[in-house]
Amino acid sequence: MSLRDHPGIYLVLLLHLLPSVTGIKKSLSYTPVDLILLDCGASSSSTSLDGRTWDGDADSKFHASNPETASSAFTASQQDPSVTQVPYMTARIFQSQFTYTFPVSPGPKFVRLYFYPATYSNLDISKSRFSLSANTYTLLNNFSAFLTVSAMKPSVASFIKEYIITVWDNQKLDLTFSPSPSSFAFINGIEIISMPNNLYASGNNNPLPYLGIDSNQFYLDNTTALEKFYRLNVGGQDINGNDDTGMHRTWLQDLNYIFSGAVGFVIVPPDVKIQYTMKTPAYTAPVMVYGSMRFMGPDSHLNLKYNLTWYFSIDAGFNYLVRLHFCEFRPEETRSDQVVFYIFINNQTAEPYADIMLWSGGNSVPLYKDYVLWIPKGSHSKQYLCLALHPNFDKKRTYADAFLNGLEIFKLNNSGGSLASPCPELLAGSPPPENLPKLKVKTNEKRFLVVIVVGSVFGGMLALSLVICFFAFKQRRVKDFEKSEAKSFRFPFSHTLRSSVTKASLRPSNTSRRFSIFEIEVATSKFDDEFVIGSGGFGNVYKGFIDDGATPVAIKRLDSSSRQGTREFRTEIDMLSELHNPHLVSLIGYCDDPGEMILVYEYMHRGTLRDHLYKTRNPPLPWKRRLEICIGAARGLYYLHTGAKHPIIHRDVKSTNILIDENWVAKVSDFGLSRWVPPATPKRTLAL
Ligand SMILES: *[C@@H]1O[C@H](CO)[C@@H](O)[C@H](O)[C@H]1NC(C)=O
Ligand SMILES: *[C@@H]1O[C@H](CO)[C@@H](O)[C@H](O)[C@H]1NC(C)=O
Ligand SMILES: *[C@@H]1O[C@H](CO)[C@@H](O)[C@H](O)[C@H]1NC(C)=O
Ligand SMILES: *[C@@H]1O[C@H](CO)[C@@H](O)[C@H](O)[C@H]1NC(C)=O
Ligand SMILES: *[C@@H]1O[C@H](CO)[C@@H](O)[C@H](O)[C@H]1NC(C)=O
Repeated sequence: MSLRDHPGIYLVLLLHLLPSVTGIKKSLSYTPVDLILLDCGASSSSTSLDGRTWDGDADSKFHASNPETASSAFTASQQDPSVTQVPYMTARIFQSQFTYTFPVSPGPKFVRLYFYPATYSNLDISKSRFSLSANTYTLLNNFSAFLTVSAMKPSVASFIKEYIITVWDNQKLDLTFSPSPSSFAFINGIEIISMPNNLYASGNNNPLPYLGIDSNQFYLDNTTALEKFYRLNVGGQDINGNDDTGMHRTWLQDLNYIFSGAVGFVIVPPDVKIQYTMKTPAYTAPVMVYGSMRFMGPDSHLNLKYNLTWYFSIDAGFNYLVRLHFCEFRPEETRSDQVVFYIFINNQTAEPYADIMLWSGGNSVPLYKDYVLWIPKGSHSKQYLCLALHPNFDKKRTYADAFLNGLEIFKLNNSGGSLASPCPELLAGSPPPENLPKLKVKTNEKRFLVVIVVGSVFGGMLALSLVICFFAFKQRRVKDFEKSEAKSFRFPFSHTLRSSVTKASLRPSNTSRRFSIFEIEVATSKFDDEFVIGSGGFGNVYKGFIDDGATPVAIKRLDSSSRQGTREFRTEIDMLSELHNPHLVSLIGYCDDPGEMILVYEYMHRGTLRDHLYKTRNPPLPWKRRLEICIGAARGLYYLHTGAKHPIIHRDVKSTNILIDENWVAKVSDFGLSRWVPPATPKRTLAL
């Protein structure tokens, strides 16, 4: 039977077993009073990929008072693959001051601004500079969307700025765009959505702890506007707007921010029942946020030796609201005094005695804690905010541990009512991250950590053995794997800062990226042994970080003294450069500087499927997950057979060649034995 004739064959048997995976209906905990979605520059309404309807803003009732000549509608000349049609492909360009007036109910609103700095007709987008105000607040000043997007790591094509502005009684919400002299302003989309009154502003009866200059209390009321900087589902996966509690907030996983030297463990149990309360109502954060956590680990001795630490890049000269979401759902934690920990924010003790069970009053009861932090102006306009957790083990407690479920960081307007920071300088001038505390671990402690990692149930570092299988070349695969297994569980201790403004998956590009040997040396600390995660006849495999530490990658360095790898090196680049599918492991790039043959792959956090099936310390995979993995692998193979330019036969499908990422997405890997099917080949050769 030919697979060409029956392309669905992989999935048919599996899909009908999964009626419950699709079409899950859920009721939202909050229904916004105001919801405005404006597709700027569009003439009619259209639906975005997430199913929401956006109105075009031509002849819009929201811009009555501007002269005809103040603005015009444009369509982007090119659509970046990562950018959706709605609302990004059309823009309104402003030649002079322009105000949108939104009649909304009083109360706090999310204002989300969508920017796609692309080419619009003959306009040079890098010349666009403008200011933006919302009622009395300054949101942007002499702002360049082009520079902003250029500075983001990993690279993105578009971005969203999110603000919280309170609209007073009898007031409207005015958004005023003011182009800088001899420049122009633009916007692609505007979203306005209301929220519960006291969701973020705690009011004047509830001062917040202030890690600032003088006073130790901060009154955050609704006269202060906020700009969202980070919103993370710690220990969990990305949550898109539709899965928020009704306000369409997106939550990103925390992997790009956790200090890579010691990532602890994550748990996402399948069946937690979160007990929301009056103080923490269901709209505060979705179940997925409170139902996953990152914790230090099962070993108290080890936990006492390190801090669970996250780093965030922020602008200096502002106050920040740091909201930490907690929910202790581990069944063995039943009372207060069991797990108590310190919370340090930028070296200051925000909490010496965080006892979540004491604060919440019970298992699976969620809560959040707010802190306000002053970030003074330093030598650079960009600074780092560091959050660290450490066990407080002073009395005889059951466990030395610490954990976190979610986190939000907002910038607060300054006393002049402004949230605007200077634009990032162009990349060349951007300073290296400032000296960050290095993780100091003595040799014997190292082994300690390594053991933990090997035994880890969900740990993000687990990937390791997989990378080996993946990289081992066909001829020597089995032998090398056995040999290298012991060596493979090394822990990359060297410190790496992962700062990233917006997380974006690595976009497929038609050509792989070419790295210089210098970049590879930076990514691996000059091929430091600490970074080795596998080795074989071909050479070593390193875990590395590219894009200023924002992106973990697996780096395979072929031993150039052996001629063995040369052909595979080329084949792998040629084949993988053409293949782009969520269910195939992607090649990010390569380095072919003189004497070097280096391949850079996306890093797969959960290892091979085999690691989860046989002789494993991992928990048994639930059936649903097994089926999802089967379907994912089937999709990858189906793409190879039908979706690529030339059909490809993998020829080596097995559980060690199916890799699993941190979101449990299965990806097919290892094309060492794969073959292109010549166009003239009769169909039946495609049959497996
Ligand atoms: C602002 O906060 C005050 C005090 O909490 C409250 O009385 C008032 O209704 C709020 N105003 C709006 C527009 O939400
Ligand atoms: C805006 O930024 C540009 C480029 O950095 C600069 O040349 C210009 O002077 C700035 N304008 C104002 C009003 O600050
Ligand atoms: C944190 O404290 C350590 C030692 O107490 C100090 O060396 C370091 O510079 C401090 N870092 C910051 C950001 O204040
Ligand atoms: C944890 O962080 C705090 C505050 O930055 C610091 O004082 C302490 O030394 C750190 N502990 C360890 C074990 O790194
Ligand atoms: C934010 O701006 C408003 C209005 O300008 C001001 O009243 C308020 O104090 C500012 N907030 C902070 C935290 O400075």
